[in-house]
Amino acid sequence: MHIQQKLISKFAEALNSLGFADAAVPLAKNTRAGFGDYQFNGAMGLAKKLKQNPRDIAQQILGTVELDGIAEKLEVAGPGFINIFLSNKWLSEQTMLALTDARLNIQKKVEQTIVVDYSAPNLAKEMHVGHLRSTIIGDAVVKSLEFLGHKVIRQNHMGDWGTQFGMLLAHLQDKLAKNEVAESALSDLEDFYREAKVRFDEETGFADKAREYVVKLQGGDEQCLQLWQSFIDISIAHSEDVYKKLNVSLTRDDVMGESAYNHDLANVIADLKEKGIAQEDQGAQVVFLPELADKNGKPAVYIVQKSGGGYLYSTTDLAAVRHRSGYLGADRTLIFTDARQALHFKQTEIVARKAAYIKAEQEYQHCPFGMMLGKDNKPFKTRTGGTVKLVDLLDEAVERAEKLLLNRESSLSEIQIESMKTKLGIGAVKYADLSKNRTTDYVFDWDTMLSFEGNTAPYIQYAFTRTRSIFVKAGLDLNHTEFQVNIDHELEKSLALHALQFQDALEIMAKDATPHVLCTYLYELAALFMRFYEACPILMAGVSERDKETRLQLCLLTNKTLGKGLTILGIETMDKM
Ligand code: ARG
Repeated sequence: MHIQQKLISKFAEALNSLGFADAAVPLAKNTRAGFGDYQFNGAMGLAKKLKQNPRDIAQQILGTVELDGIAEKLEVAGPGFINIFLSNKWLSEQTMLALTDARLNIQKKVEQTIVVDYSAPNLAKEMHVGHLRSTIIGDAVVKSLEFLGHKVIRQNHMGDWGTQFGMLLAHLQDKLAKNEVAESALSDLEDFYREAKVRFDEETGFADKAREYVVKLQGGDEQCLQLWQSFIDISIAHSEDVYKKLNVSLTRDDVMGESAYNHDLANVIADLKEKGIAQEDQGAQVVFLPELADKNGKPAVYIVQKSGGGYLYSTTDLAAVRHRSGYLGADRTLIFTDARQALHFKQTEIVARKAAYIKAEQEYQHCPFGMMLGKDNKPFKTRTGGTVKLVDLLDEAVERAEKLLLNRESSLSEIQIESMKTKLGIGAVKYADLSKNRTTDYVFDWDTMLSFEGNTAPYIQYAFTRTRSIFVKAGLDLNHTEFQVNIDHELEKSLALHALQFQDALEIMAKDATPHVLCTYLYELAALFMRFYEACPILMAGVSERDKETRLQLCLLTNKTLGKGLTILGIETMDKM
């Protein structure tokens, strides 16, 4: 149930029948206690337009809107707000409906085709922390879109092409000539890259050889392509290890790397020239963008082909746009990269729209994110100042989680700890990232993310296990949804209402590509549950059947909602903690 949407449509109907068709319907959740659960604040705007008293208009709307059975009270407040108090009976009914539906009574939306470009590591090197954010934020957004019913096409735009491969292939060839096998030579890509770079900079003749390989590769030389393919395969396998550890849904089928557009780059340039969009400037092909002119009115320059004829990141992205919006028919394209690429995507979009690669009704949304910082507020680095490999970071998370579990005074067996440490450690890393507003930088801090207090994964995972254990203690299985729900108490109501606002949170996350909205929602749900659990006894002697049954069902709704929410975030749950 999308409560907000439901109320909006009721108010829209009322406005319509009062003759205010097409009026905006500003209506939102109310967070101030005592002012209702939702608030409509459109009366003031209407009154201004009609030069009437806003409280009178509000009163008219209040008299017309049909919320019988949904709201138990409506009131006009202040300058003309309408406060909406939802009825306990309606919330009880909605709780039962949500419980008995596998989708928690969340209807699928009108399906859009949505292309999501995320993760996209550069295969010449090992995956590092910069790709962590893209990978997990993108994957969470993908899962929210799929849950809401959209057709999502994942596109892992891996950096698998470019001049640095000349150097890498030349080095690999030499190693193979010395009877080394590719797998072991490339077991550490970071080391391999470093070795190749040293040779490139210092060894006579090697740089020429590297350049020769670039030419051969681009010319489609069979043997060179084979060598490249084996390099790429091994590097993709490295990424897949990381995806597995991270519990993200990307597979090899989602790989659509830069090389996949290679055959189309010349076509793109020819097309841009023919349409009069690209023109020659000092031997290069460029597009002038008056839309992004500087202070002096000088248009920005977007280079699409270098003077020697070489292609660029921009050329590949234009080919990608054409493929996605054209061939794949994307109604919406989302791209997750760090904020430093914002200008590139803005320019790409302008050029792509000029060239009609994206139609007016198609959305193209670059979703930038900030940097991961160390405790010193500087970009996250190893102690010696190197880039942190993602695998190492994830392994450390699991180790730390294990230590934490061993130090807790609980009766966990070795087997339990073994199965929990990954869920706890990886969950903590992912949640710490996902719960921050995507666009800002954030400080990566082991201690806070692994804490059982506050807005963390362990806190929510723990609340999840509580909701389950009560049910188990009551001797019921987790499919028991037959009890009648009768909400009577304040904390029952706030818990039910919040649990039923799941879709409200999901819709915002899906629209703005902001997983932190779902995180905040789940954190609040967990916190409300803990308060409810302390104040409302369930299995104690003296609790009425009516209260007990209602409360058990509220535990179950919380359980299912937390579980579903964490699954969308790609965070695993445990039965016991
Ligand atoms: N490989 C790029 C990087 O690591 C990200 C690619 C993002 N997608 C794109 N269509 N350009 O920065």
